[in-house]
Amino acid sequence: MAKSGKSGGKGSVSGGTRALKVRVKTARNRSNSSARWLQRQLNDPYVHAAKREGYRSRAAFKLLEIDDRFHLLKPGARVVDLGCAPGGWCQIAAKRVKSDVSSPRAGRVIGLDYLETEPVPGATILQLDFLDEGADDTVKDLLAGEADLVLSDMAAPTTGHKQTDHLRIMHLCEVAAHFAIEVLAPGGAF
Ligand SMILES: C[S@@+](CC[C@H](N)C(=O)[O-])C[C@H]1O[C@@H](n2cnc3c(N)ncnc32)[C@H](O)[C@@H]1O
Repeated sequence: MAKSGKSGGKGSVSGGTRALKVRVKTARNRSNSSARWLQRQLNDPYVHAAKREGYRSRAAFKLLEIDDRFHLLKPGARVVDLGCAPGGWCQIAAKRVKSDVSSPRAGRVIGLDYLETEPVPGATILQLDFLDEGADDTVKDLLAGEADLVLSDMAAPTTGHKQTDHLRIMHLCEVAAHFAIEVLAPGGAF
């Protein structure tokens, strides 16, 4: 994700005056990593902007910036969003493809995650582990045709052991790419 917000595109967070640094007051009752995470959250301009603009995640700005640059979310497009919880990318995708679940010719967004995702207007949410046997077939059945775009923001929970985390992340990238190759229409994007 672009951290500077300097690009000035529709997906960037405008600079303005930097808020005063917030300190975690309950650090003593937390592990170091949890206190560090909370400190980052409290001081992250994208977290604040997401809350202000009604996005479920700061990650929403990543997709806005990617799409402002590459124009992948075209009106009417059929999109699969792998690892969609809490739903920030689904919100952006549904809006930009002008998704309408009641109209077969409108854009379509299918989001998948093993965590629960609150319903997102314009998206169909599936709660399942993408690594489970048959999960890819379930998504394909629901898609009932080819996809124009497969998105993946899947991230495995980190263990803190760099090599293990790297392997897990790469595995998710590879299965997502394999899935994309199978379901994308000619000219589709991953
Ligand atoms: C960074 S978050 C996604 C944020 C999302 N793009 C948004 O904007 O709200 C990564 C997600 O990947 C999901 N995930 C990781 N491995 C998965 C798997 N095997 N199957 C389904 N979801 C998975 C996690 O549960 C987590 O919710």
